[in-house]
Amino acid sequence: MSKSPAEAKSGKPANGEYVTLIDHSTEKQYDLLVRSGTEGPKVIDIQSLYKDTGYFTYDPGYTSTGSCESTITFIDGEIGILRHRGYSIEELAEHSDYMDVCYLLLYGELPNASQKSDFVHEITYHSMVHEQLLYFYRGFRRDAHPMAIMAGVVGALSAFYHESTDINDPEQRRMATHQLVAKMPTIAAMAYKYSLGQPFVYPRNDLSYAANFLHMAFSVPAEEYNVNPVLARAMDRIFILHADHEQNASTSTVRIAGSSGANPFACIAAGIASLWGPAHGGANEAVLTMLREIGSKDRIPEFIKRAKDKNDPYRLMGFGHRVYKNYDPRAAVLRESTHEVLAELGIKNEPLLDTAIELERIALQDDYFVEKKLFPNVDFYSGITLQAMGFPTSMFTVLFALARTVGWIAQWKEMIKEPNQRIGRPRQLYSGSQERTFVPLDKR
Ligand code: ACO
Repeated sequence: MSKSPAEAKSGKPANGEYVTLIDHSTEKQYDLLVRSGTEGPKVIDIQSLYKDTGYFTYDPGYTSTGSCESTITFIDGEIGILRHRGYSIEELAEHSDYMDVCYLLLYGELPNASQKSDFVHEITYHSMVHEQLLYFYRGFRRDAHPMAIMAGVVGALSAFYHESTDINDPEQRRMATHQLVAKMPTIAAMAYKYSLGQPFVYPRNDLSYAANFLHMAFSVPAEEYNVNPVLARAMDRIFILHADHEQNASTSTVRIAGSSGANPFACIAAGIASLWGPAHGGANEAVLTMLREIGSKDRIPEFIKRAKDKNDPYRLMGFGHRVYKNYDPRAAVLRESTHEVLAELGIKNEPLLDTAIELERIALQDDYFVEKKLFPNVDFYSGITLQAMGFPTSMFTVLFALARTVGWIAQWKEMIKEPNQRIGRPRQLYSGSQERTFVPLDKR
């Protein structure tokens, strides 16, 4: 990487760093601009590559591709760093609450006292959903997966809130942003209540964001429900830890959907669909299924053996990450929270937790996991905490979606404001048939 020979030849001003691409088939050289962010690896700007060279790049899974410029979240997966707008996830989890983090992600700075109180007020007073949305739920089977309900209901919001769908109007964008953050706990709790056959519980404006969600999820009209403050704090922390994670699959899905000009409700519904898969947000559900399948500590070696077997597709759920090649910092915070929740609920000798701790211990020492840098990720501990709090496994990914909505919408807003925003449209390496003559049905 240098001031390239091609640069010297072309007389290009030496005011940038370039890498030179040499096409040996034509002996041509091309200078590609190298750009630096405030942190993280440099990137090679290939925006004009096709125009200049006639080549596309090939990068399935986008392992070497930066899809956008962003100021929201920074991750250094080698050391295990996650920061939002410069603040470490550990500090945010320790000292702030989810409303602070939402404001930070959406508006770039932590709110001062009056900004915070205005924001909390605005979110609190938009938490009810249109009454007619209640009937929409009734179209689903009672045993529908709550993520299926979430994808459907959130997508349907654009049919209920017409005054927030014009993406070119900053006020409508602001309104849609606040509506989504505010209504997501109500929508998620309703999905849960519907699956139980219990009545929907309306939001309460005297409760915090997390406490209100627990109230809507667990209270019933027949008796009083007092939210346990330790559980409310743990819930809030889980929301913080899941709030954003730069350009992961669901966030990229939201950006791609939004790049066509789709309204924010539709984009967030697309993010929910992407999050559902077991390689992404669905992993927390898969972790619990795995721990139950393992059953007891003495069976762990058998499952580790399977995970290491090249001929067996089995993987340890909650281990490994595309970006983190070190302990996921969110998992470290959540590990602590898990113990607090279990202590508060008086849960001792929880077999799933015992199995999880032992599994983590063995995997962290195992050559296979060490060499491949497979550490526990956030999903490893969130499932155990959520189960102890009383959520069924089918709700785990719903809670992830609830918390991640603010990240999706912050990233969507950032994209919409880019001056050169264009539709996302990757190309491909075509390896199908070349042109051939149509064969009539009777000749095939
Ligand atoms: N168990 C056993 N082996 C694994 C695991 C695992 N959990 N994860 C990766 N590996 C192995 C792969 O077999 C592969 O081995 P190879 O090089 O010999 O072929 C190597 O490690 C690299 O794995 P890839 O699949 O190439 O890594 P990728 O970055 O594509 O995948 C992913 C990351 C999807 C998270 C993967 O580690 C995985 O499937 N983990 C389990 C599911 C999970 O916990 N997902 C949650 C992700 S975090 C989140 O969404 C919040």
